This record gives sequence, structure tokens and C-alpha cells, in this order.
Amino acid sequence: MLSAGVLTAAYIAATILFILALGGLSNQETARRGNWYGIAGMAIAVLATIFGVVSQNYGILAGAMLIGAVIGLALARRVQMTQMPELVAILHSLVGLGAVLVGFATFLDPESHYEGVEKTIHDIEIYIGVLIGAITFSGSVIAFGKLSGRIGGKPMLLPARHWLNLGLLLAAIWFGREFVVQSAGGDGMIPLVVMTVIALLFGIHMVMAIGGADMPVVVSMLNSYSGWAASATGFMLSNDLLIVTGALVGSSGAILSYIMCRAMNRRFLAVIAGGFGTAGGAAAAGGGEQGEVVPIEAAETAALLADAKEVMIVPGYGMAVAQAQHTVYEITKALREKKVNVRFGIHPVAGRMPGHMNVLLAEAKVPYDIVFEMDEVNDDFPDVDVSIVIGANDIVNPSAQEVPDSPIAGMPVLEVWNGKTTIVLKRSMATGYAGVQNPLFFKENTRMLFGDAKDSLDAVLKAL
Ligand code: TAP
Repeated sequence: MLSAGVLTAAYIAATILFILALGGLSNQETARRGNWYGIAGMAIAVLATIFGVVSQNYGILAGAMLIGAVIGLALARRVQMTQMPELVAILHSLVGLGAVLVGFATFLDPESHYEGVEKTIHDIEIYIGVLIGAITFSGSVIAFGKLSGRIGGKPMLLPARHWLNLGLLLAAIWFGREFVVQSAGGDGMIPLVVMTVIALLFGIHMVMAIGGADMPVVVSMLNSYSGWAASATGFMLSNDLLIVTGALVGSSGAILSYIMCRAMNRRFLAVIAGGFGTAGGAAAAGGGEQGEVVPIEAAETAALLADAKEVMIVPGYGMAVAQAQHTVYEITKALREKKVNVRFGIHPVAGRMPGHMNVLLAEAKVPYDIVFEMDEVNDDFPDVDVSIVIGANDIVNPSAQEVPDSPIAGMPVLEVWNGKTTIVLKRSMATGYAGVQNPLFFKENTRMLFGDAKDSLDAVLKAL
């Protein structure tokens, strides 16, 4: 067993490494280092807990860790980049489930000897931990179902759903009081179980009511909840490191939710209240006929690019689906050799998860100094000769600015139409994630290069 002093020192070291990890992850150039800090911090935390906190049943622990590691490794190797959000969602559900199980185990612990006020506080910790854990668990399972297409993206809107939520909340508070009172008399299992069922239903109802277009915010909100659930578990177990780590996850998840709400111009409370967005990828709905689209061929695209001085590449979800990032970089290199200034404009919610495009471009070794955030380049489009939109749709939709009753109204978008020519690569006229028609495709200076983005770009590269 490690001494208390060594354990504390190890926990402080792990905490510092976690903070450095978060700092590192905020920038692409330091992200890799940030990941290593996180891995090192977690290794120290796990080892310190095994040798400083656990005192028996090492065999069971080793067996559980082995099973967990094998499942985790297999999943991580198999998962496609586009399935990352659903993997994250299901992992959050495990944090929630962990909090629920630890809560019940702590409540049933025969060796717990809390008395008086201390017992009341401990019971409240258990109750809150199980409450947040159960909401996180069921909410994340539903989020997983929606993201993986097992459950439809349409919001489920029950009549009087806000009253229903309020009723569930009040019931949870009432049973909390019952739990604390009954637990003082050596009982309390029934209110704890009833509240767990209520919290599970609440989690399901909350996420079922949220439309497809708001799912990314929900995933980061559940990330935040999973942090608070872990923190509550830390209080139950009197484990300082778990409290701090949970708080770091909880607050960074909350900040991320806020940033994403701002990028999609959604109010956080409106997201939670639900009802926005339909099943993604539907055939062009709404808007009706908007005029003619002008198709273009790969050879002509290559000629336009080669003649340009300023090129802006706007990648979206379709680039991820087509895995076209490597070809994109080959084209970038070819153009830069011809002295064309190539830049990338990245929308904060392009793709299906925060930083999705940045990860793909980094994987293809695109230099960071030509990759820009939306706000850094949005005013430059009047000077851009050719913009190529690769499998992006919602993030370049002018109706966000022009149509006040559009579902994406007010969402900041990349104003590609202000450039001289825009070439859009996609397979059909289907809509994007939010399910709304895109007037960009019908603009005079827009050309459509139809086909899988990888095939189209291979042809463009060949022609270059
Ligand atoms: P979308 O609006 O979803 O548009 C993607 C387009 O790519 C589709 O219109 C599709 O058209 C095309 N596409 C798909 N596969 C393709 C392929 N193999 N080759 C060529 N094109 C292909 O994507 P976006 O513009 O990146 O916007 C992101 C949307 O997702 C936003 O509405 C955002 O709110 C939401 N969202 C974001 C996140 C985060 S955090 N980034 C998470 C979840 C949801 P075709 O079918 O015609 O090819």
C-alpha cells in the first residue's frame, strides 16, 4: 500500500497532467502532446488508486480491467471516424451507469458508519450521484441510438412535455427528502429505486425530444453530465482526484456546449426544450424549385483551380464520408507548386463532431498554418477566385442569413457565395443534416461537381 502522502502527491500530479491535457487539446499543434499528458495522468491515477486505495480483491480488479481493456481496444480499432460521436455517447452512458452502481453499492455498504449530519450529507451525495448518473446513462443510450440511426432523428414531442418534466423533477425532489428521512431510520431503498426509475425516464424523455440537428450539443451536454456524475461519485467515495477530474470534465463539457450553441445560433435552453431538426439527409425538402443548377466536369474544375490566385477549400461531412482528405492535400500541394494561395475555411460544426475536419486534415498532414477558422476568413471571400465546397451543405447555406423562418436561421455560415466561383462537390441534390434546401446550389456563380467526393477529386488531381 502506498502511504497517504505518496497517494496525495500522485493525485496532484495526475490533476496537473489533466489540466495540461485540456490546455494542449485547445490547439491543433499541441493536441498530440495534450493527449500524451492525458494518458500519463490517467496511468498515474489508475496505478495510484490500485496501490493506494484498493486493499483487497486484486484478482477481481485485474480480471475486470483486462475485460474492459480488451473491449475498449477492440472498439477503438474498429470505429470509423464518422462513428466517433456515437462511441463517445455510449462511453458517457458507462460513466452514468458507473455512478448509479457506485451509488447503490455505497448505500448498501455494511461498513459505512456515518452518523447524524455526516450521514445526511453522505445520503444526499448518494442521491445526487445516482440521479445525475441515471439521467446520463439513459440519455446517452438514446443519444447513441439516434446518432447511429437505430432511433429516428425526429424529435418526439409529447403533449405537455414541459409539465411532464417539471412533474418528474418535483417527484425526484420529494423522493430525495423521503430517502434522507427513511435512510436515517436504517431504510430508504424504495425511494432510491423509485427516483432511479424517474431519472432514467427523464433522461430518455429529454433526449427523445431533441431533434437531429441539435444532437451535437446534446452529446457535449451529456459529456458535461458524465463529469458531474463522476464528481458526485468522488464525493461518495471521498476520492479527491475523482471530484477534481469530474469537475474538469463537467465544466469543459459545459463550455463546449456553450461554444457549439453559439456556432449554431441556438439558445442552450431551447436545445434542452427540444423539437428542432428532422431526420438528416432527406431528399431536398422545402423551398421547392429554386431554378437551375449548373454542373461542371473535373477537367474544367482543374482548369479553374490552376488559373486561380486565391483558393478556399471548405470541407464538410461529405469529405469525411468519402475519406477524401488525402486527395485534398495532394491537390493542395499541386496548386501551391503552381503558386496558388490555398487556404482551408473550417466551420465550428462542420462534420459530425467538434474538430472533425481538423482531425481529418491533420491526419492527411495538411500544414496547420493554412487551416483557418470561419471567423478568420469569412470577410475574405470577395477576394477568393475559387471556393471548393467538399461535401458540405448546411455550413454554407445562405438561407441561414436570408430566410428568417428557416430552421437554421441565424446560424453563422461560411459566405462562399461572395467569392468569384464556387464549386460544390456532392453526390446528389439531397439536403444536409438539418434537412433544408440550399439556395447556394442555384446561384449564378455556383457550379456542381456531382459524384463521390473522393472520385471527383481524384479526377481533378489527375487533370491538374
Ligand atoms: P451536412 O450539412 O450534413 O452536408 C453534408 C453533405 O455531404 C450532404 O449534403 C451530402 O450530399 C454530402 N455527401 C455525403 N457523402 C458524400 C460523399 N461521399 N461525397 C460527396 N458528398 C457527400 O454537413 P456540413 O455542411 O458539414 O454541416 C454539418 C451539419 O451537421 C450541421 O447542420 C451541424 O449542425 C450538424 N452536426 C454537427 C456536428 C458537429 S459538432 N460538427 C455534429 C452533429 C451534427 P449528397 O448526399 O448529395 O452527397
